Amino acid sequence: MSKKKRVLSGMQPSGLLHLGNLMGALDNWRTLQEEYECYYFIADWHALTTQYSDTSKMRTFVHEMVIDWLSAGLDPNKSVLFQQSQLPEHAVLHVLFSMITPLPWLERVPTYKEKMEQINDRDLYTYGFLGYPVLQAADILIYEADYVPVGIDQLPHLELTREIGRRFNSFYGEVFPDPQPLLTQYPKLPGTDGRKMSKSYNNCLYLSDTPESITKKVMAMVTDPARQRRTDPGNPDICPLYSLNQIFAPREWCDHVKRECPKAGIGCVDDKKELLKHLLAYLKPIQDKRKELIANPKQVQEIIDAGSAKARIVAREMLGRVQEAMKL
Ligand code: TRP
Repeated sequence: MSKKKRVLSGMQPSGLLHLGNLMGALDNWRTLQEEYECYYFIADWHALTTQYSDTSKMRTFVHEMVIDWLSAGLDPNKSVLFQQSQLPEHAVLHVLFSMITPLPWLERVPTYKEKMEQINDRDLYTYGFLGYPVLQAADILIYEADYVPVGIDQLPHLELTREIGRRFNSFYGEVFPDPQPLLTQYPKLPGTDGRKMSKSYNNCLYLSDTPESITKKVMAMVTDPARQRRTDPGNPDICPLYSLNQIFAPREWCDHVKRECPKAGIGCVDDKKELLKHLLAYLKPIQDKRKELIANPKQVQEIIDAGSAKARIVAREMLGRVQEAMKL
């Protein structure tokens, strides 16, 4: 019997997850559980690299994210679900990697420069922020992950992870295998205002939204802006509602809209109602599971503690090999 390949990925706890996170990452993570040995963790130290000055919401964010994960179908019986800050082993490997990582490697990571320019309300000239990818390399390599499911923005971090692993191997002998990215291809989800769904735009449909709130948001959603009256013809190709329907509604309905909307044969309200029918059905099991978990906060904590204990066994073993290789 061949051993299952190992998958590892992490997510920063920065608030409630929305439909874009579900379609972009979580759905994929859930599918991978069936085929791989999966390790998924809450990257709370990574969240600190930008949120260090105010950690008052940290515990709430962590707890809510685990609820979102579990309600979206991540299964603690199939995957190891854990919390980075419960694994000091990651920090030890991070410090060892920091000894061998040349500074210019970090300074030229594109996300480093981009975030420096984008985020102006916080001081990011910190040691931790520059070292973000070194910590990520430790997260990945300590589990000898074969595959790392990530979005395209994370590819430079993965490349750096491989470079750090190779440099380590060249100094101290073959310890780390080369992890491969699993690029998640997913449709870009528009938010209710037509821009990309994103917390900072305040245009999200959240997994934690009630059916009433989802209904309200969808009914108020932007469609083709040129279509002001019911009798105006519309263009599905630029309509965010149509994009969502292509994901959630059946093919026949989308074909129908594609034919009728440009002739004003169907109105936006009809189309919204159709989206709601499918979207609410899709979210129903997630919301049911969510209610169950909210009633049981202790169980949520226990799942993360148990997952962290499992991860610790693997991380310790690897750290032992690293220290042996380095003659520590
Ligand atoms: N940097 C990742 C993100 O922001 C989160 C992360 C931290 C991660 N460590 C990781 C992802 C290890 C994959 C593997 O999305």
